[in-house]
Amino acid sequence: MKIGLFGFGCVGQGLWKVLHETKGIRADIKRICIKHPDKQRPVPAHFFTTDPAAILDDPEVDVVVELIDDADAAFVIVSGALERGKAVVSANKKMIAHRLPELFALQQKTGAPFLYEGACCASIPIIRNLEEYYDNDLLTSVEGIVNGTTNVILSKIFEENIGFQEALAYAQANGFAESDPSLDIDAYDPKFKLCILLLHAFGVFVAPEKVLNFGIGRLQDFDIHFAKSRGQVIKLIARCYREKDKVSGYCIPRFVSENHRYAHVRNEYNAVTLESAFSEHQTFAGKGAGDKATGCAVLSDISALRYQYKYEYRKFSQNGTFFDTSDTILKVYVRHQYEGQVEESDFRTIEERYIAAHSRYWIGEISLAQLQNARWLSDPGVNVIELGTDYTDFASSH
Ligand SMILES: NC(=O)c1ccc[n+]([C@@H]2O[C@H](COP(=O)([O-])OP(=O)(O)OC[C@H]3O[C@@H](n4cnc5c(N)ncnc54)[C@H](OP(=O)(O)O)[C@@H]3O)[C@@H](O)[C@H]2O)c1
Repeated sequence: MKIGLFGFGCVGQGLWKVLHETKGIRADIKRICIKHPDKQRPVPAHFFTTDPAAILDDPEVDVVVELIDDADAAFVIVSGALERGKAVVSANKKMIAHRLPELFALQQKTGAPFLYEGACCASIPIIRNLEEYYDNDLLTSVEGIVNGTTNVILSKIFEENIGFQEALAYAQANGFAESDPSLDIDAYDPKFKLCILLLHAFGVFVAPEKVLNFGIGRLQDFDIHFAKSRGQVIKLIARCYREKDKVSGYCIPRFVSENHRYAHVRNEYNAVTLESAFSEHQTFAGKGAGDKATGCAVLSDISALRYQYKYEYRKFSQNGTFFDTSDTILKVYVRHQYEGQVEESDFRTIEERYIAAHSRYWIGEISLAQLQNARWLSDPGVNVIELGTDYTDFASSH
């Protein structure tokens, strides 16, 4: 195989390393297209170009690997390569989540394979698992910790007794968070991954705009003390599930007990739990970010192309499921500051209320649709955290 690579940043260099350390794969990187020609590179200059056509129009290149950080440019590259009948591998969750219907149609039209395992949980082979092992309608739910940056921050907060800002600064200083960390902190990144998982788990195309993403940026010491005082930690969870022909999904922080399996998923590790009719739950854990962890997933996709592997999207053609959040009821903790800030009538029930001079919280049930549309959800003084299924332990430990 002759590979044309787009992007030579963290993941592109990770792929270079794992490819050169893996003896069994006969694949060579022929050209690398980058954006800034003057940057110092750790490999010889003759590999590099800034002209996409030098790869896309080279008949010798049969695999295009797209690893750039610009979603719009990535779509042009990926669609251009598929149109030319080249196999494509990408890890660009933002681009894929936004353009899935078009990318699906392009694969149908051209017959060219498009693989993107690295886009979901880096080293955890979740998409191929959903495609191959769970290729039936027994699967009922997929959820987990799918964002390494926020998991680093939350691990620091709970293990080292520091506040959100200090933990964010640590993550940025150590390469776990971008200088603009909002895609991760505000839970856009895990939402993009969830949209991809929704297609492979349940066969539904869901536009990212339809999925609630509520991140960890509003976490205050009050919330952290609340969690600790009740034997809980906080994890950012992406979740989707099916009930009959309806599929729902959302991404918000959740309290989980200190003994819960997610509490042991630390730092940049991810974990995904699948639930199906007869096998109950299975959890896969592994590194969810990083050069070699993601490069390794990309390499596995390249390797799968040797035997003409492509996603079959079987669940899409099989079922009549559709995305609908109207029946989803969440039990949530809603911390706010003053009376009237949060609309009581939005809740189905309120089980617990706490009122102090500068902070108050409610615990109650609210429908996901109501939460998504709530006026107060955009108020920076309000924080929302879901109570997990171990709420019984939660209440009794208190
Ligand atoms: N980092 C991770 O752990 C991780 C994990 C999973 C998935 N991903 C995904 O993998 C992709 C790459 O991430 P990264 O962390 O490797 O990014 P990065 O370190 O910022 O590197 C981005 C690379 O893209 C190149 N580039 C940008 N625009 C380009 C264009 N129009 N044409 C050609 N090259 C272009 C840049 O070129 P220059 O070098 O010239 O600036 C750079 O080499 C992203 O979609 C990201 O979401 C990353």
